[in-house]
Amino acid sequence: MLKNSLAVGVFDSGLGGLTAVREIKKILPNEDIIYFGDTGRLPYGTRSPEIVKKYACDDMNFLLTNSVKAVLVACGTVSSTALSLLKETFDVPVIGVVEPASKAACEASKSGKIAVLATPSTIRSGAFETTIGQISKNAEVLGIGCPLFVPLIENGYLEKDNVVTSIIAKEYVSKLVDFKPDTIILGCTHYPMIANIIKDIAQELIGGVEIIDSGKCAAEALKLYLDKNNCANTCGGNTTYFVSDRPHDFSSTASLFLGETVENVTQINIDEYLYNPS
Ligand code: DGL
Repeated sequence: MLKNSLAVGVFDSGLGGLTAVREIKKILPNEDIIYFGDTGRLPYGTRSPEIVKKYACDDMNFLLTNSVKAVLVACGTVSSTALSLLKETFDVPVIGVVEPASKAACEASKSGKIAVLATPSTIRSGAFETTIGQISKNAEVLGIGCPLFVPLIENGYLEKDNVVTSIIAKEYVSKLVDFKPDTIILGCTHYPMIANIIKDIAQELIGGVEIIDSGKCAAEALKLYLDKNNCANTCGGNTTYFVSDRPHDFSSTASLFLGETVENVTQINIDEYLYNPS
């Protein structure tokens, strides 16, 4: 089989990676996608680096049982904690979200004040501060961990007028008021699913801000990689979904978010794919 016609692998702890899938479908409509959401072990973003690394290796191990030509780590937590490990360990090109989102933020920001809303594990890792610091010497970064967003999103609390999500978003965005960023990175790939809510609250509390969608930025980085290496597909376009638990819940929220029916979500037993380095 020609490399170009192989699928791209995409994974996240759950639904968040769909923000990258939505963009891949737009800008690379002929790519086949194999998506894995580790819904049985979610959330990742409150866990220790050791556990995140272990889960990420298992997820890669599963994806590589389906031949894929590249893997998009559509998870801010894994990208900030385990990207170099995955690159060293697995023999496939691996693209994460931190660098593409940091670049987009540096290009968008005029004041150099960039806020990052992400999972506690991502904020603790300091990955966005480090990467932004390498791109722009003058940028100032404030990171806020938002642990309550992922359970809300996984439970489908996405509508713009959802009272619970709005109250929680206000709590987190209010921590940015004194810093006054002009750019906010949604550094967890789940958060772009409630970007409208976050944007409206930021507008009300801070004023106009540019919102950076890390899933979208990662998809753009994947396109750059495929184009540069002449390995984009011209005749695919199918997406196959796998999860490690609750396929029906995944299917209904994914359909709502992607605006198309997501059916045939297959449940796998991730314990059969545990990565064993020896
Ligand atoms: N969507 C993921 C991220 O970008 C993981 C969220 C979680 O499982 O806590 O960080």
